[in-house]
Amino acid sequence: MKKILVIHGPNLNLLGDREIDVYGKVTLTQINSSLKRLAQKKKIQLKIIQSNHEGKIVEVIGETKGKFSAILINPAAYTHTSVAIRDAISAVPVPCVEVHLSNIYQREEFRHTSLIAPVAKGQVCGFGLMSYVLGLEAAISLIKNKK
Ligand code: DQA
Repeated sequence: MKKILVIHGPNLNLLGDREIDVYGKVTLTQINSSLKRLAQKKKIQLKIIQSNHEGKIVEVIGETKGKFSAILINPAAYTHTSVAIRDAISAVPVPCVEVHLSNIYQREEFRHTSLIAPVAKGQVCGFGLMSYVLGLEAAISLIKNKK
C-alpha cells in the first residue's frame, strides 16, 4: 500500500483553542480523523506527525525517500522562515503538497511569502479543514497519475 507522510508544523497542536477567529474550532484530532477516513477510502496508508521543532521536520522529510510516495505539509510559521525545510523538500524525490487552514495572502504581509511554495507541487490555503482534505486528494492523485 502506498504511504503518505502528513506533517503538521509548530503550534498546530493547539488548534481548537488557538486564535479561533482565524483557525476556527477544528482540532488537530478532527483534522487527522478526516484525513485517515479519506486515506482508508482511497487505500492509502498515512503516517501523521506534529512537531514544534524545525530540525525534527527537516529530519523526517530527509528520511522519506523510498518510504513515502508523497508529503502533505502544513509548515505553519516555518512556511515563512525555513530555508532548511525548503531545502529538505528539494533534496528528496518525493512530491510535496503544502496546505494552510487560513488564506495566508489575506493576512499580515510577512505571511504572504511562502519559502515552501516554489518547491511544492502545489498549495491549498484558506479552506480550514477542507484545505487538508483537498491537499490530500491532490497528493493521492499525484501518486495515482505517476503509476
Ligand atoms: C498556517 C498559517 C501560518 O502563517 C501560521 O504561522 C500558522 C498556520 C495556517 O494553517 O493557516 O501557524 O500555516
